[in-house]
This record gives sequence, C-alpha cells and structure tokens, in this order.
Amino acid sequence: MPIHIGTNEPPVKKQGGTAKGLAYVEVGEESTGGGAAAIFDLYERSPDVKVVVINANPKKKGALATLIEEASSAAAQGGAEVEELRLADLDIGYCKFCMTCYRDTESPIGRCSQEDDMKWILERLKEADAYIIATPVSSGHGNAIFKTFFERCAYTAGSSKGKLLWLKGIPTSRFTDKRRHAVTIATAGTMPNYLRKLCDIATKQMKELSKLSFNAETIGTLYAGELVFKGLKDKHRRKARELGRLLAQAGLQP
Ligand SMILES: Cc1cc2nc3c(=O)[nH]c(=O)nc-3n(C[C@H](O)[C@H](O)[C@H](O)COP(=O)(O)O)c2cc1C
Repeated sequence: MPIHIGTNEPPVKKQGGTAKGLAYVEVGEESTGGGAAAIFDLYERSPDVKVVVINANPKKKGALATLIEEASSAAAQGGAEVEELRLADLDIGYCKFCMTCYRDTESPIGRCSQEDDMKWILERLKEADAYIIATPVSSGHGNAIFKTFFERCAYTAGSSKGKLLWLKGIPTSRFTDKRRHAVTIATAGTMPNYLRKLCDIATKQMKELSKLSFNAETIGTLYAGELVFKGLKDKHRRKARELGRLLAQAGLQP
C-alpha cells in the first residue's frame, strides 16, 4: 500500500479516464506481491473507506514520500483502501481562467474546457471518503504543483454558488452527498515546528482545499520542519501513522 497512479510508468488495463491517466497502477513495496492479480484483488474488494492520497511532491523518495507511506499503510491496516495520485506524474494543465466551471453551477462536477487527467481524477475524488493531502513547503506555501491542482478543483469540485454575508461567488463544495474527512502533511526544509504558527500557509491552503472543494473536515495535520538540518524524526513518522489510523476510523463511523 498505497496504490500509486501516475503517467510515466508501465501501462495496465484497469482505471477509468483518459489514455494518459490510465497509464499505470502499481502496488507499493509493502505489498505481498502477486503482480496484476494483487492489483485486481485490491480493486475488487469493497472496503468501507476509500482514501485518496493527493501527493504534490515531484520527488518519489524523501521525507514527504516516507510520511505518506506511513499514513497510508496505517490507514490500510485500519481497513481503508488507499490510492495515491502523484500529481507530478499526471496530465494536469494550468487553469485557463475561462470561467466555464465557474458558470456551471448545476453539474455534480463542474465542466472544464480542458481534456486532461482532471476529468477522471475529479470522479475519483468524489467517490472518496477521505483524503491525505501532502505538499512540500515552498516559500511558506504549498508548491506550484499543489497550487495548480487547487485551482483546477476550486470550481469543478467546488462551485461558485457559495455566499458569505452579502458576497456571492464564494467557492462551496459540490460533494455534498456524504461526510468526508482529510488529514494534511507538509514537509519543510528550514522552518522549525515552533515557528509554524507564523509561516505555515501550506497547511491552511490544504485545509481550504479539503473544505471548499471536497466538503471534507480536516481532522489532523502534520508539519515536519527543519528537515535539512535535523532530518525526519520518529515523532513525525508516529504522527503520520496516527493520522492514517484516525482517517480510517473516522470513515467507519456512521
Ligand atoms: C523552491 C523551494 C522553496 C522552498 N521553500 C521552503 C520554505 O519556504 N520553508 C521551508 O522550511 N523549506 C522550504 N523548502 C525546502 C523543502 O520544503 C524541503 O526540502 C522538502 O519539504 C523536504 O521534503 P522531501 O524530502 O520530501 O523533498 C523549499 C525548497 C525549494 C526547492
């Protein structure tokens, strides 16, 4: 666990969506193996909780990848099915600001003028019960890959129907069919945890994405700071596992 989905890896048959988005499904290193059979087993059981990992890091190994693996395997041990979207490996174009999604307030998923992987990704996000959202910190914010994804979700998973006092056009989620939950993971090279309150905009952005796009309550956050100087600590790994467990438990509650 988790099952990774990207574009520049060996192709397999299963998955809906565009040809590029279909490109591969890989069972992670902790899997007991079994190749294609194992992949199909994972998809054919009907778990209670479907977790989608939204991974904005282009790096396949490193602190964030380790923490995602910890959280995902804990969620899987708690009975969840976990699927990881590695955004950097998928075909996700910049938002063109054509306002097609903004004007489409009635569709279950807002229409988009672009034909790329976001089409099937949005379907998957809607099916999900829970999310692990993860980004490396960049100038205090989520990185550019995260931000591109956020923009593409704002009025497709979200809609412009929201209101705040007298203000109209505020994003509000279209995913109102069920309760969802999220946890967030941010990794930072230089900034220590005790300064997080002053400069952690990345977590705030991930929480906004959860709420305004996916109608998901954020039930836990992890900020692993000072990684360049102090490296990843056991307490970070423990916290990641705790978040994974929490997510699986929250999804099982009625
Ligand atoms: C362009 C860029 C901007 C960065 N901005 C910050 C920052 O604002 N604060 C910080 O603590 N670390 C910053 N970093 C460090 C990364 O957040 C850090 O290397 C990464 O999260 C480590 O996780 P990884 O091992 O999974 O890559 C930056 C790194 C790059 C390349």
